Amino acid sequence: MKIAILSNGPGNYSTKRLKEEALKRGHEVDIVRYKNCSAVIEKNSPIVKYRGSTLEGYDAVVPRIASNMTRYGTAIVRQFEMQGVYSTASSLAIVRSRDKLRSIQLMARAGVGIPKTVFTRSINDIEEQIDDMGGYPVIIKLARGTHGNGVVLAETKKAAKSVMQAFYVMDDDGTNILLQEFVKESAGQDIRSLVVGGKVVASIKRQSLDDDFRSNTHQGGAGSPVKLTDEERRAVQKAAKAMNLSICGVDMMRSVRGPLILEVNSSASLKTPELITGRNVAEKIIEHVERNAKKQPRKDKVGA
Ligand SMILES: Nc1ncnc2c1ncn2[C@@H]1O[C@H](COP(=O)(O)OP(=O)(O)O)[C@@H](O)[C@H]1O
Ligand SMILES: [Mg+2]
Repeated sequence: MKIAILSNGPGNYSTKRLKEEALKRGHEVDIVRYKNCSAVIEKNSPIVKYRGSTLEGYDAVVPRIASNMTRYGTAIVRQFEMQGVYSTASSLAIVRSRDKLRSIQLMARAGVGIPKTVFTRSINDIEEQIDDMGGYPVIIKLARGTHGNGVVLAETKKAAKSVMQAFYVMDDDGTNILLQEFVKESAGQDIRSLVVGGKVVASIKRQSLDDDFRSNTHQGGAGSPVKLTDEERRAVQKAAKAMNLSICGVDMMRSVRGPLILEVNSSASLKTPELITGRNVAEKIIEHVERNAKKQPRKDKVGA
């Protein structure tokens, strides 16, 4: 098969590993920097140009779209989709996963456990809603934050108010904020599971090294292997399905009421999970591509 990995970072661990495993399995692989691609849109002919030439003949694309390039990157993915090229993540599903509000709406509808969440723009009557969530401290989150940036723990009403005011300085419709129950039972810890083909293939527990409540490895969190319970595995897989992402990274917290899903990442890093569990996740992704590339693309049935 001829596979394109859409990545602006050819030296990234995940990109390199995917290329390596694809080559090992006898495929032809190109790393395509999607930021240097252009889409030529003409009647009946969706073309992708890259450094002066037309990209043709691919059986599959593996998008690794950075969160700060979501619009551009997914437009390029869409262009391939319109040519009938198989993508390991659909452009629609990538866009959806980048919005934490939309994601938890979809997961809640599918019956996935999530932390209690309020979405509001009004700062004045948040008091009652915060009481409903169990009072302070409360988590305040930007709907489009990543790597733990844009997630704040507010200990008091005063702090919550000023954080919300600060977030809303840019009074536009793109800055959405979520108030969320603070899952204190496992503060500073979460579990990142990688899902391939709808099944969990590797899970690691991330622990913040200092007293930060955020466990993202980008914030200095350390990982260790962890075994999920059956209930946890089901919750993770259900979350992936609700987001229509058969390959993804799912963040979960253990709570007194069972597993709570925080978010689903459509371009999750393979690095820490592979290095810590020793599982060959990249190979599983390439096998998934082999099984699915020739099939007719399935319709997106999420409907939201
Ligand atoms: N409701 C919550 N209660 C406790 N900790 C949380 C909560 N939400 C997020 N966190 C912590 O903050 C980290 C980042 O939150 P997350 O929603 O995954 O955003 P990001 O996209 O920035 O990773 C999580 O990995 C977790 O450690
Ligand atoms: Mg996260």
